[in-house]
Amino acid sequence: MTGDNGTYRPLQRYAHITGWGKALPERVITNKDLAQIVDTTDEWIRSRTGIEQRHVAVDPDETTATLGMKAARDALHVADLPASKVDLIICATSSPEHIFPSTASIIQDSLGAVRAGAFDLSAACSGFVYGLTLANSMIVTGQSDNILVIGAETLSRITDWSDRNTCVLFGDGAGAVLLQASAIPGGIMASVLGSDGSGGDLLTVPAGGSKQPTTLETVASGQHFIKMDGRAVFRFATRVMAEASREALAKAHLDINDVDVVIPHQANLRIIQSSMRQLKLPTDKVFINLQNYGNTSTASIPIALCDALDEERIKVNDNIVMVGFGAGLTWAATVLKWVAPPAHDVPRWRASQRSATYSLARVRSRFLRFSRKVEGSLVAEQDSGWSKVLTDRISRWRGTKEE
Ligand code: ACO
Repeated sequence: MTGDNGTYRPLQRYAHITGWGKALPERVITNKDLAQIVDTTDEWIRSRTGIEQRHVAVDPDETTATLGMKAARDALHVADLPASKVDLIICATSSPEHIFPSTASIIQDSLGAVRAGAFDLSAACSGFVYGLTLANSMIVTGQSDNILVIGAETLSRITDWSDRNTCVLFGDGAGAVLLQASAIPGGIMASVLGSDGSGGDLLTVPAGGSKQPTTLETVASGQHFIKMDGRAVFRFATRVMAEASREALAKAHLDINDVDVVIPHQANLRIIQSSMRQLKLPTDKVFINLQNYGNTSTASIPIALCDALDEERIKVNDNIVMVGFGAGLTWAATVLKWVAPPAHDVPRWRASQRSATYSLARVRSRFLRFSRKVEGSLVAEQDSGWSKVLTDRISRWRGTKEE
């Protein structure tokens, strides 16, 4: 097919993961550390969940956006793509920086991804697979060529550290992938998305939204923390992980025997083992790293992907299933054929060049903030000739001038 400007555009487009990255806060909290603050034991947490430790953002300057930005930078580095070429940034998160602006927009600014649209996606722990599915549709329909899909969390900020039912489960971190258009068959082949809102109250942060706005009372009664009916979520998760994986494989015209690697949401080892038993999948085909990070919600699957690649568990042409579940209730599974070489050698000079562009992005962002302030104060004096000339210049430079 030939486009308007004579350039060749393939009839069939595929979306491939060509870059990946993860970011974790430095501070590690072990089960033994937790046993100092709530009535629990290392043995209980290990045997009921498989978790041994988690990373926690104790530095107030470390946020969902800063973790997401670091993971996204790594993904761009692996793909060797400048941020200026990114078309869209989707940030799946359950612990966003604010209600608005979106965490994705903050990441877009810090990367200097000047041509990218950006938005947050809320589907709890299923969010990353929801994001991949959406990005795939944007790419195969020709809307976009390069999309960053990020899962980023600082769940520690919405965790009640005196509630042993929840605080032992969660961790902070971020993972990101770059999805790129290609004419090479493979990449994302099929996805399944699901939701059952009747189970919304099983896993929720009750206050802080429009239903229960923040008041002194909501804060005092801990309504801004995660509340969970663990047993009910457990039952839902063990059922839905196997079902969603089967459905996605059927859509991709594949059988369970065609699967090389499953990357499940890393919430609980027993949930994963039970789901894989239902699928009759050998344990060596399932990638598990939750012992190191706990449940990092939207970040768990992309972090696991990065670790699986580091450990050379993924090879070219592997069929991979990613499957998650979470609050909502939601679930999602995607099947993809891995095509990118698992390791890229990017020259060192290119890394320095890219880090310089991130410094420039910081300067650009500061300048834009400053120019907005100047513009604001000059608008008040719009009648005087010189201020009109200046505001016009600034607006034109920022691309916000109304003609
Ligand atoms: N240490 C010691 N005892 C504990 C702890 C703890 N940290 N937490 C709970 N217990 C106690 C309970 O109080 C209960 O005591 P009781 O019998 O006297 O009432 C006992 O242990 C057993 O509790 P159960 O809930 O039956 O324990 P279970 O084996 O189901 O494990 C768990 C609990 C780990 C929470 C499990 O139900 C689970 O993993 N559920 C799914 C949670 C999940 O994945 N949530 C995230 C979803 S993704 C997202 O969207 C964020």
